[in-house]
Amino acid sequence: MNGTMEIAVTAGWPGDALDRLRERYTVRVREKETLLDEEALAAFIGGAHAAMTILADPVTDGVMAACPNLRIVANVAVGYNNVDLEAAARRGIWVTNTPDVLTEATADLAWALILAVTRRVVEGDRMVREGRFHGWRPDLLLGRGLQGRTLGLLGYGRIGRAVARRGRAFGMTVLFHDPGVLAGEAGDRQVGLDALLAGSDVLSIHCPLTPSTRGLLGRERLRAMRPGAFLVNTARGPVVDEGALVEALESGHLAGAGLDVYEREPEVHPGLLDRQDVVLLPHAGSATVETRSRMVELAAENVVAVLEGRPPRTPVGGRSTA
Ligand code: GLV
Repeated sequence: MNGTMEIAVTAGWPGDALDRLRERYTVRVREKETLLDEEALAAFIGGAHAAMTILADPVTDGVMAACPNLRIVANVAVGYNNVDLEAAARRGIWVTNTPDVLTEATADLAWALILAVTRRVVEGDRMVREGRFHGWRPDLLLGRGLQGRTLGLLGYGRIGRAVARRGRAFGMTVLFHDPGVLAGEAGDRQVGLDALLAGSDVLSIHCPLTPSTRGLLGRERLRAMRPGAFLVNTARGPVVDEGALVEALESGHLAGAGLDVYEREPEVHPGLLDRQDVVLLPHAGSATVETRSRMVELAAENVVAVLEGRPPRTPVGGRSTA
């Protein structure tokens, strides 16, 4: 029992991981659903020794400066672009993420979007509900088939490779572009970015948001995509210039887009909202009961390790790189 150590958790999570932490620590969970800005985040973490954060929490240098006891920021997400790693390292604070446990769920959701947008699933659902289904017709709701087509992956890490495996099962050829990877699995082929854009019938984004991927798919690169291609993004919104994407859809250059993430989340570019060729989800890549429970369990394990003076299981930076 260590009633003096305090853990600030910025959102409620499914599963019993937080209850297990409560047996040994003081755990404060923020139940409000509104997003926190830096000031509110710093005020919430306050004197806690550990913070379990969500991907929308801006864990800046200023926040860390205002939280003098903080030893670990356990971001309950695989992405950690919301955390200032350099500042954490300087301040001796561990930063951890939740890799692996969400790979399959996120790959499934990327595929839900690929199928939804190429086969017009949401549009069809609206048609039926709105009483516009007047009987079978040979030309009703024609989409695009995937067999024999090329799936392009911008990013070929854990999630990209899981999306590739599903692509092969759908009879697709897989190309990828990932400067950090040497070889593809099972015939998946690495190509340059230009070749990826020109060669993909479906381009799915699976890279982290970093200074070099921010805005990577701007107007010119979207124009360089294969005419009639589909764009799917389950990674981070700012990799794509949303205004340029709207233009590429409006001009008919791209056939559709499936988006789970947005450039200025939770805002969505108004030009996307009334398009039938776009499927929009509310950043739900890892949103299954099983996966969210495993994410918070892994984050809790990292917190316990650090509070007990051991290195965490899945560090991404901060103290580990200091
Ligand atoms: C979700 O976007 C995550 O990074 O886990």
